[in-house]
Amino acid sequence: MDVASILTGLYSEAGRQDPYPYYAALHALGPVAAVPRRGEHRAVSAVAVGYDVVAGVLRDPGFYKQAPPRWQEHEVTRTFQTSMMFVNPPEHTRMRQVFAKAFTPRRLGALEPVVARVVDACLERMAEHGAGGVEVDFVADFAHPVPALVMAEFVGIPATDLTWYRERVDRLDDFLDVAGKTPQRLAAADTAAAELRGFYRDLIAVRRRAPGADLISALVEALDSGGVELTEDELISNLVVLFNASFVTTVYLLSNGLPLLLEHPAVAAALPGDDALAAGSVDEILRLRNPVHFLARAAPHDVDLAGVPVARDENVLLLLAGANRDPVRFPDPDRFDPRRAGPPSLAFGMGLHFCLGAAVSRLEGRLALPRLLARFPGLAVTAPPAYSGSLFLRGIDKLFVTTGG
Ligand code: HEM
Repeated sequence: MDVASILTGLYSEAGRQDPYPYYAALHALGPVAAVPRRGEHRAVSAVAVGYDVVAGVLRDPGFYKQAPPRWQEHEVTRTFQTSMMFVNPPEHTRMRQVFAKAFTPRRLGALEPVVARVVDACLERMAEHGAGGVEVDFVADFAHPVPALVMAEFVGIPATDLTWYRERVDRLDDFLDVAGKTPQRLAAADTAAAELRGFYRDLIAVRRRAPGADLISALVEALDSGGVELTEDELISNLVVLFNASFVTTVYLLSNGLPLLLEHPAVAAALPGDDALAAGSVDEILRLRNPVHFLARAAPHDVDLAGVPVARDENVLLLLAGANRDPVRFPDPDRFDPRRAGPPSLAFGMGLHFCLGAAVSRLEGRLALPRLLARFPGLAVTAPPAYSGSLFLRGIDKLFVTTGG
């Protein structure tokens, strides 16, 4: 197969349901492939699937993130382009520093009992719903509420606002998908961004009057004491993006991970008593079924990527999920091996924009999955999982299970 037909296949319904054969086909062509020009325009000029090339681009501070044209005209793109995730140094460095300071080991440590409490409460509810062998949706009862409630406490969002909030998260995620740039999706994302901005403006005012132990209170205090270089508008943009980045990704860590664990019953059975195995399983789930499938970076000057020329300011599509199965770096790449040695997977990215919340989501996975399997040793999947259908954020949205007692 040539690159054009592989990419057409990847973007098709079949590719959205199972992109991995297309990544394997790309590996067979080499670590990088030039994307043929279709007419005048092409969104990316090369697609990289080789681990070393993808990691190399992400680690190279010269490669940068390109803003979409006329981003100032829309609330959603204005919000994104004034947050750390979408900008380059020096703005990126300035904003990331403020947030990195708030992600202290103390705050992470304090999160551990919160995760345990939230997980146990969700397990309780799942046991009630699944009593007598009734099928339950694992995503609705566990994979979704666990990260939502944990992040709500971490960030400082009232739990009662989460249902309202989730609908806005979905509008922003729809827009971020490769098929997301339609006028309807843009308008829906604009409205969602405006509503979320208003929501945070009010919440900041509340936390300013009555601070708590949460991230918003810490950031507002830092802002008001004049110790940080961040405007309130930038604080709001970053909170919108941070919560979005934290949320569906961690839902998918849990929902993509459960079937994989159940396909390996010896690992599933050993998980509850073995913290190292739990940590290794989380990393291996993220390698094999990572929620974020690709990133893009633009070349700082004309470059040669493993023999493929990329002109200055042209974009390279970095297939994280493909690189995570590069046979050169991960022998027998499709095999789930929680004790695998080797380089880190690219599930959290790499370099300047490496996921700020990696430790938070790893903690959630490391605590939630063993507790789940300890509570329901007879847990079984009863129907084929339903995937999101998004190529950018790939994960299981519905997963019917019986709790086994
Ligand atoms: C399994 C769960 C998660 C996955 C797979 C994931 C994945 C990623 C990836 C791939 C990036 C890099 C983006 C880029 O280079 O363009 C990233 C960045 C980011 N993530 Fe995560 N993430 C997860 C959970 C979280 C959580 C729980 C939080 C917050 C507590 C979070 C906050 C962020 C932020 C703020 C950035 C932007 C960092 C920057 O631009 O410097 N993520 N994440």
